[in-house]
Amino acid sequence: MVKTLLKEVKEYKWASIITPICMIGEVICEIVIPKLMGRIVDDGVYGNNLGIIYQIGIRMIIIAILGLIAGLGGAYFGAKASTGLAKNLRKKMYDNIQTFSFANIDKFSTSGLVTRLTTDVTNIQNAYMMTLRMAMRAPASLIIALIAAFSINAKIALIYVAAVVFLGGFLMFIMNRATKYFKQVFEKYDELNESVQENVSAIRVVKAYVREDYENDKFKKAALNIYNMFVKAEMNLVYMSPVMTVTVNACVLLISWVGAHMIVGGELSTGDLLALLAYCMKILMNLMMLGMVFVMLTMAQASGERISEVIEEKASITNKPDAITTVPDGSISFENVSFAYTADSEEPVLKEINLEIKSGETIGIIGGTGSAKSSLVNLISRLYDVTDGAVKVGGIDVRDYDMETLRDQVSVVLQKNVLFSGSIYENLRWGDKNATDEECKRACDMACASEFIEKMPDGYNTVIEQGGSNVSGGQRQRLCIARALLKKPKILILDDSTSAVDTATDAKIRKAFAEEIPGTTKLIIAQRISSVQGCDRIIVMDDGKVNGFGTHDELLASNEIYREVYESQTGVSGDADFDQLA
Ligand SMILES: Nc1ncnc2c1ncn2[C@@H]1O[C@H](COP(=O)(O)OP(=O)(O)OP(=O)(O)O)[C@@H](O)[C@H]1O
Ligand SMILES: [Mg+2]
Repeated sequence: MVKTLLKEVKEYKWASIITPICMIGEVICEIVIPKLMGRIVDDGVYGNNLGIIYQIGIRMIIIAILGLIAGLGGAYFGAKASTGLAKNLRKKMYDNIQTFSFANIDKFSTSGLVTRLTTDVTNIQNAYMMTLRMAMRAPASLIIALIAAFSINAKIALIYVAAVVFLGGFLMFIMNRATKYFKQVFEKYDELNESVQENVSAIRVVKAYVREDYENDKFKKAALNIYNMFVKAEMNLVYMSPVMTVTVNACVLLISWVGAHMIVGGELSTGDLLALLAYCMKILMNLMMLGMVFVMLTMAQASGERISEVIEEKASITNKPDAITTVPDGSISFENVSFAYTADSEEPVLKEINLEIKSGETIGIIGGTGSAKSSLVNLISRLYDVTDGAVKVGGIDVRDYDMETLRDQVSVVLQKNVLFSGSIYENLRWGDKNATDEECKRACDMACASEFIEKMPDGYNTVIEQGGSNVSGGQRQRLCIARALLKKPKILILDDSTSAVDTATDAKIRKAFAEEIPGTTKLIIAQRISSVQGCDRIIVMDDGKVNGFGTHDELLASNEIYREVYESQTGVSGDADFDQLA
């Protein structure tokens, strides 16, 4: 995991190296100053020598300035390296997510991916900065200060060693306990994020069902959970400060006492004692700093794992090395196709499918909810790969095509279609970025979208809000059809794409297709028999299997499911679809 993350440091390698060097520079300056201070007292004050006081004083100022520069450098390069790493991590994840197939996306939830791109990266950024600045500085400072202390007086330095061992043990104990709680806090954060993301993005549904109170309660609970966990974790840390203070003060007391005896005995100078007291604070503070770095690193560990999972995820659908870049025609065949969404699912969603569709045919697909109509057509543009058998387009296995070529020629209007924020023109040009205004308008004519677009105040320049919230469901469907048409595909698939369009418009769209794009193979999934009645042939899906395949008349005569649905929708059995009566 660490390797995966560190690989993204890239161009910020130098900043990452300079930061600890600056920090060590700062430490050295900090350590030298108490020593000089001691000399001012011993040689200057006690020696009554103003010259030395000035001389050493100037040296102290210079060293303090150097220390300041080193400190600033450390902060600057540390920030540069850590934010740079965060930027690279986000980019790497985002790039990889773009290669994901539908199957990969099913594995991570959308909200999970968003959390990984935001909160988790921020955690790593903070941990990296802390590590660069403190992980070297704290131990370096600790060791150099100890060496300096030993060089002044070994006996007193031993007091430090005792204090370091005691505090070190205590910190380890506290950190261990605190980390356990902090880890739990982050798990709870996930829950909170999920709840926020789900409810904010579905706020309209929440309001429609008057579920605000329920959602508020749920949110309050999640927030309270985090509060409780944080308090528990922080409760462990509250002991840190008082124990630190007591230890430092005890040390100061002990050093003063032992030191005073030594000064009287002539073993130690006053200046040295002053320097030793200054080191006391430094050593113990650094120990605490080191403890904090450890806490941060353990907290970041979970985030790091979640990020590397995304970076290391291999796209389940990729191009073959010598992929084919032309689609000969729009014929489709399914040969013994079985398909399951996950490898460990008990029963496949599609079973033993065999179909032959000729180029230019118009095929209707009908069947109950969950009968795997969408699953069937999603295999054609290779949104998922078959588990068994083969799907062929133009006589060639879809897995042998270059993916871009295939998806340019197989245009799908997904059942869960979306528009993006931007003008209508911009949205349409997702289909073909070089389409002229005229071409866009023609596509909209065919999809019966131009009639409402022209009524809008800004026409084709009207801005669509995020998720297409400012157009109606039927309008959105028509825009999505127009967008798919602009690709000028050899195969056009409409997955329940006219469900929100009135019957008359639906018929107009089908008529336009028949007249304007006769060569394109068209697959139309629909719930209404009237939408597929006029197709060349119709597939009846039932529980993942093809139950019937033929013309309207053939199916009416031979297929029980088709006849039942037809009768219920045309009102023969009295259970009419109002669309039909209109
Ligand atoms: N992404 C997915 N992951 C796992 N299972 C899925 C997924 N999508 C669909 N399924 C399952 O596959 C089966 C067939 O679903 P599919 O969406 O193909 O049905 P459908 O015929 O298109 O239904 P509808 O008419 O409601 O659109 C269902 O049982 C569903 O639970
Ligand atoms: Mg469907």
